[in-house]
Amino acid sequence: MFRQKIREAIRLAITELKREGALPDFAVPEFSVAAPEDPAHGDYATNAALVIAKLTGGKPAEIARLIAGKLTAPEIAAAAVAGPGFVNLTLADGSLTGALSAALHETEQWWRSEVGKGKTIVVEYSSPNIAKPLGVHHLRSTIIGQAIINLLRAAGYNAVSLSFPGDWGTQFGLLIAGYKHWGDPEKVKRQPIEEMLNLYVRFSQAAKDDPRLLDEGRQEFRKLEEGDPENRKLWQWFLDESLRDFNRVYELLGVNIEHTIGESHYEPELKGIIQDALDHGVAQRGEDGSVVSPIPDSPTPEIIQKSDGATIYTTRELAAIRHRIKEWDAVQLLYVAANQQTFHLEQVFRSAELLGYAKPGQLVHVKFGMMLGSGGKKFATREGRLIPLIDVLQQAIQRSRAIVEMLNPELPDSKKDEIAEMVGVGAVKYYDLFHHRLSDIVFEWDKMLNLEGASAPYLQYTHARFKSILRKAAKEAKAPEVPDGAALDGVEHRLLAAMLRLPEAIEDALKDYTPNTLANYLYTLAQLANEFYHSHPVLQEPDEKKRALRIALVSGVALTLAKGLDLLGIAAPEEM
Ligand code: ARG
Repeated sequence: MFRQKIREAIRLAITELKREGALPDFAVPEFSVAAPEDPAHGDYATNAALVIAKLTGGKPAEIARLIAGKLTAPEIAAAAVAGPGFVNLTLADGSLTGALSAALHETEQWWRSEVGKGKTIVVEYSSPNIAKPLGVHHLRSTIIGQAIINLLRAAGYNAVSLSFPGDWGTQFGLLIAGYKHWGDPEKVKRQPIEEMLNLYVRFSQAAKDDPRLLDEGRQEFRKLEEGDPENRKLWQWFLDESLRDFNRVYELLGVNIEHTIGESHYEPELKGIIQDALDHGVAQRGEDGSVVSPIPDSPTPEIIQKSDGATIYTTRELAAIRHRIKEWDAVQLLYVAANQQTFHLEQVFRSAELLGYAKPGQLVHVKFGMMLGSGGKKFATREGRLIPLIDVLQQAIQRSRAIVEMLNPELPDSKKDEIAEMVGVGAVKYYDLFHHRLSDIVFEWDKMLNLEGASAPYLQYTHARFKSILRKAAKEAKAPEVPDGAALDGVEHRLLAAMLRLPEAIEDALKDYTPNTLANYLYTLAQLANEFYHSHPVLQEPDEKKRALRIALVSGVALTLAKGLDLLGIAAPEEM
């Protein structure tokens, strides 16, 4: 990583300047080294002089001049003072081409790091509720969660992927009661999710007007908890049908969740947890029989057992925390869950810390904003029903088919279908990941499928263009090699420097679990790639050395786009 090398070079320069007395003695503070937006400012810029000036009371521009003059790293070709005290740095062409050559030889290694080596992080994501279709907030959780898993693995972590489906609670009593009243096994078999949702909605509506029905539903859940064989069987059937349905969507999304451990899994442990909380003095039994855990500095105590003895969501969350940390010896548990879960999860995390199940900082809520329908309204059908995810994906694929048709009408139909699926699913994913996870997103097909903007199709098309050059090049030459002593022009230099920043983008995306950092990086890279494509002949370039260099560059950039997309969970078709 050049950024790391530059950082070290700057530190060294500062130490040297202090030793010589050109700078007073002070502890070297944190400073930034980043790729400036405007490429005219070089490959990297640092604010080191500004930070030091603030600390020592010196003049920033003067300190910047001193630092620029002291940088000796061979990777740095030029250092210039800019603005109020920035130092702009330009990398040496030879270092860039050397790194390109290394990348082409280690296509599966050069972007990886080992910062996470030996550490396990468990990432909980997706976590849908059974007997309901996957909704859009599950889409966000699933996509962001899978991207984080991929990024963690790229940084050497042992990342465990896990879903915590909502498969327990009173609502299943209502569903079972509804089924017993009106259920038709044939209907459930035909359209499981729709039918379960229908039965549940119908029963809970009816229960609103008739409290006896509500009681009946509660009773059915109680029976389920106590292991009543008929209710167990029904519940298991609903669960299996649901998981089968979720898997269909995951498959289409290319999502792979290693462990599915639902809330019900923790049922047998809950009494122990409640006892544990009472024994530790973390919770008290109230007069009505409920067990409540007061949380310091929080106005709302956490209920872990209801007065009727029923356990609740929170108790299952606590059991899950204890289990996950123990089972995988995890340094961190991430919860990729909606903003709306903030209060609940904060309370749960505090309780878990009080109980000694987790250390402060070990539990992290990776939250995200809402996905809104067009016009910024709730993402729902006209009747206010949840829009099933699978419908959204299918529509995306259909729309992408038209794009492929337009770009490449000669392709055989089966190929067009295959590409349309990669583009459609990719478009939905990239659109989500390109936004900062905390932002609310308005679902807009035009942006998602815009071939000229920040979208998966744009990135995929750029990649496919480069691949097509490489296919033609392969006919005459062997594997791309960087020629010795190749010189770079401005566009080539910027493109190559950008390509080599992939590992930095990965590192940045992991700092605060923001996959959009990587999505943004890829967009910048694709823009530079297209600038190059339109201004630089590759196979037509008469100068042999230049041609060889460009082929190597095209190869490196294609690899980088494909790998970056892959980390976001997006496929990069070879042609488009
Ligand atoms: N099942 C919940 C839902 O569908 C999400 C669960 C989030 N994870 C958690 N541990 N609370 O809304």
